[in-house]
Amino acid sequence: MRSLIAGTGSYAPEKIVTNADLEKLVDTNDQWIVERTGIRERHVVADDQATSDLALEASRRALDAAGLDAKDVEMIVVGTVTPDYPFPSVGAVLQGKLGNRKAFAFDVSAACAGSLYALSVADRFVATGAVKNALVVGADALTRITDWTDRNTCILFGDGAGAMVLKPTDDPQRGIRAVRLHTDGSLVPILLQPGGGSRDPISEKVVREKSHYVKMNGREVFKVAVRSLEESCREVLADEKLTPGDVTWVIAHQANKRILDATLHRLEIPESKCWMNLEKYGNTSAASVPMTLDEANRAGWLKPGDTVLMMAIGGGMAWGASVVRW
Ligand SMILES: CC(C)(COP(=O)(O)OP(=O)(O)OC[C@H]1O[C@@H](n2cnc3c(N)ncnc32)[C@H](O)[C@@H]1OP(=O)(O)O)[C@@H](O)C(=O)NCCC(=O)NCCS
Repeated sequence: MRSLIAGTGSYAPEKIVTNADLEKLVDTNDQWIVERTGIRERHVVADDQATSDLALEASRRALDAAGLDAKDVEMIVVGTVTPDYPFPSVGAVLQGKLGNRKAFAFDVSAACAGSLYALSVADRFVATGAVKNALVVGADALTRITDWTDRNTCILFGDGAGAMVLKPTDDPQRGIRAVRLHTDGSLVPILLQPGGGSRDPISEKVVREKSHYVKMNGREVFKVAVRSLEESCREVLADEKLTPGDVTWVIAHQANKRILDATLHRLEIPESKCWMNLEKYGNTSAASVPMTLDEANRAGWLKPGDTVLMMAIGGGMAWGASVVRW
């Protein structure tokens, strides 16, 4: 038995911040941002919205698409690094909001790779028959931990949520075929939120030093991203005795257009096979992969039997890739 992605959903908050808006906040310009990242605008949470609110909308849409009643969900896993509260989990909050009391619910912390990690965990439960279905969500409100005076980071991030419903299948031609996950903890310093955790709890000093915001060495992240994504894609394709030429569609974490272009170039996969939406949303962290999957799915791209290659990388550094037969 394998698990199958039986429904997808996504949600982006209404408020849009354009590159022109950012020009008023920091020393940057639309041309620089578009050339270096491909991003033109991003969606940003309203004052009264938290990550679980985004997750709820995306989940409802995915459950609807899968024909599954929220009350019947047996497992909820949320990839996020911007939970509503340090604890409990967004998974627990989401379960409550869905009116579900059956599912066990928890979060997975793997930054922008969070939804791929969450998918991998839920896949094991569904494929072994431990649960009959699972709701996998990637949701982040990264703009809540973004320093709007730091032009190195504030141009990149946006908010959103994506969701996937997993069900079991006996069809040998379909389902999640392989997932490969990796972490390199020596790279923690190049992308992290240094303050506000147990190492340096929230305090006047943390706020003064702005260490509760994302800090990033963009050049280092860029290099690691291209190398790691290529390697894990080749690895997961080899697991299934496939080559990049066998891939029908690519669903990739939307970090930066240049990272994706370089990775696709190395894999010799044409850009036309990769759904791109970072122009509209920026880097939405864990939400990125399931939002992208949902857009491609609803646009009619994905047909039963198609080979879909998913990839993501984020702080940790944590990364991975997956092969799915749609
Ligand atoms: C952040 C990123 C876009 C910067 O692009 P880059 O080509 O590496 O740019 P650099 O950092 O080398 O900076 C080049 C110049 O632009 C300047 N610059 C940086 N940010 C700028 C901005 N927003 N607007 C205008 N100029 C900017 C720099 O100060 C630097 O100027 P200098 O040459 O006078 O020192 C790029 O490194 C990147 O995308 N990295 C990966 C980030 C990412 O994806 N993170 C999430 C992973 S999940």
